[in-house]
Amino acid sequence: MSTALITGATQGLGRALAEALAARGWDLVVTARDASRLADTVAALRSNGHDVVGLVGDVADAVHRDEVTDVVTEIVGARGLDLLVHNASTLGPVPLRPLRDLAVEDLADVLSVNVLAPHALTRSLVPTLEAAHGTLLSISSDAGVEHYETWGAYGASKAALDHLTLTLAAETPTLRAYAVDPGDMRTAMHQAAFPGEDIGDRPLPEDVAVPGILALLAARPASGRYRAADLLAVATSEVAS
Ligand SMILES: NC(=O)c1ccc[n+]([C@@H]2O[C@H](COP(=O)([O-])OP(=O)(O)OC[C@H]3O[C@@H](n4cnc5c(N)ncnc54)[C@H](OP(=O)(O)O)[C@@H]3O)[C@@H](O)[C@H]2O)c1
Repeated sequence: MSTALITGATQGLGRALAEALAARGWDLVVTARDASRLADTVAALRSNGHDVVGLVGDVADAVHRDEVTDVVTEIVGARGLDLLVHNASTLGPVPLRPLRDLAVEDLADVLSVNVLAPHALTRSLVPTLEAAHGTLLSISSDAGVEHYETWGAYGASKAALDHLTLTLAAETPTLRAYAVDPGDMRTAMHQAAFPGEDIGDRPLPEDVAVPGILALLAARPASGRYRAADLLAVATSEVAS
């Protein structure tokens, strides 16, 4: 029996990954801010017959994070937490804007959700992750590496998240720690970044990102930064050969 904590798991990638893990026998703790969507998600995930706990809250809220840490630690006990997924994320104010028009307070909010919250959760859960020789998975973005106009706040936050994740890997060899770029996905966040644009040509999370992450979890390569599309391509070529 394996247990995962996934932040932001009621839609998009977090939800699709939660469904894939539940179907493979994982117990789950899932979070999000909207209580009714979280209740629906938990009910659907429980139909697989495994333990699923939903915790309503904002990852930027320290009280919520303390509750998450307490519940996870209690559930997994001495066997430890197998997988922590930092998925919840914000773009910051939309429409996205050039840095010269980005208020310092808005940048602080983005860093709070995308960097400080994952760091705080990682810190509090490292002991239980180590007990299970578990995996830390931070959902990154190509915007953390490339420099796209108007994506500065989000991109800087993903670059920082990558750096924290891979530094933790260097410091904690008993764990695997991955930053994974899922690629463009047809989700609410992506639509918010491209208001009014038809994003129907982007893959759904279950098309590339989730199978890529499942391949990563199965293979457990060295800690590092990976692209879901590359992980899926390698897994597909291995099956074919
Ligand atoms: N979509 C893309 O093209 C794309 C590309 C590269 C990387 N990514 C990354 O992939 C991950 C998933 O993105 P997505 O597109 O699947 O997003 P999404 O469809 O907008 O879903 C986001 C999920 O996170 C929850 N959430 C958002 N803010 C939260 C907060 N502060 N605290 C707790 N939960 C929160 C949302 O529920 P509530 O609103 O109820 O909280 C929802 O369940 C993110 O890390 C994103 O940066 C996405």
